[in-house]
Amino acid sequence: MRVGVAGLGRMGSAIAAHLIDVGHEVTVWNRTADKVKPLAAAGAKTAASPAELASAVEAIVTILTNREAIAAVYEGPSGLLAGNVKGKLVVDMSTVQPETEVALAEKVRAKGAAFVECPVGGTVGPARDGKLLGVAGGTKEDFARAQPLLAQMCRRVEHVGAVGAGSSMKLALNLPLMVYYQALGEAYVLCRHLGLDTKWLMEFLSDTSGAPNILKVRGPKIAAALAGGDVGPPAFDVDSIRKDLVTMVAEAKTRGATLPLAEKTLAIYDEAAKEGWGKRDGAWLPAYWPTKNPRTGEKR
Ligand SMILES: NC(=O)c1ccc[n+]([C@@H]2O[C@H](COP(=O)([O-])OP(=O)(O)OC[C@H]3O[C@@H](n4cnc5c(N)ncnc54)[C@H](OP(=O)(O)O)[C@@H]3O)[C@@H](O)[C@H]2O)c1
Repeated sequence: MRVGVAGLGRMGSAIAAHLIDVGHEVTVWNRTADKVKPLAAAGAKTAASPAELASAVEAIVTILTNREAIAAVYEGPSGLLAGNVKGKLVVDMSTVQPETEVALAEKVRAKGAAFVECPVGGTVGPARDGKLLGVAGGTKEDFARAQPLLAQMCRRVEHVGAVGAGSSMKLALNLPLMVYYQALGEAYVLCRHLGLDTKWLMEFLSDTSGAPNILKVRGPKIAAALAGGDVGPPAFDVDSIRKDLVTMVAEAKTRGATLPLAEKTLAIYDEAAKEGWGKRDGAWLPAYWPTKNPRTGEKR
């Protein structure tokens, strides 16, 4: 299939590379042109604008930072929707509030295209391997049309309702993880003075009742961060985590609800960002609170 990927950030680049691997004819575009180069070297065609990309392909995939990025890429004289999109399939995988996807779906449908939102769980590695967890929103017909493509990008895709439902589910599934990083930092404050090897500690905690999957997947990176070692290049950084938390809190507000744990966690991560942690991988976050409580490291 001729597939276009607009937005070659960490996730978009990994997804585009995977779509090439599984045999699609992939066309790419990104605001910052440099990010196109590795994909072009891997065999992707390049488009000079989102509109040109939209006209060249049968299906369009986007994964962008936020609502403003979606507006910038879809709208305007060279935006995706200025291209020939009639009868085509559009899939947006960005993590945003449901209302953003509902508004986007209306604009896409007004141009005669089908629209499915499918935000994803999983980071760059799973995106590169086609092993994401997708939560899709759309009509039954549109989802059925998108399903084969989504199945190539995801190890599991669930159709959770109309457009907007996928975003609600995505925000819900990420919240415990965001709070967990802080909880783990606080847990470490209670046991750091024992001087146990952090690799062992992550492996041991992953075998306990309070452990989420993230400990199995990212435990070694978290252990490295706690020991002050090398965590490698950021896959999902602290600023992106803060963006997701801001989105969760805003979404709760529109539903007349509050999220006290998410709000408190966001305030702590905002503090971390002010201290220069924003571009670090999220695996560093459990190491932040211990730096605020240095005396707990003393042996008694
Ligand atoms: N990283 C993860 O592990 C992960 C996992 C699941 C979901 N997500 C979600 O996936 C989305 C992308 O995340 P990412 O980590 O790939 O982010 P990223 O590396 O920061 O990439 C963001 C992308 O959005 C583009 N963009 C931002 N503002 C724009 C604007 N005003 N106009 C045009 N393009 C704009 C960027 O273009 P430039 O290159 O020009 O800046 C880039 O292509 C986010 O919604 C995130 O929450 C991320």
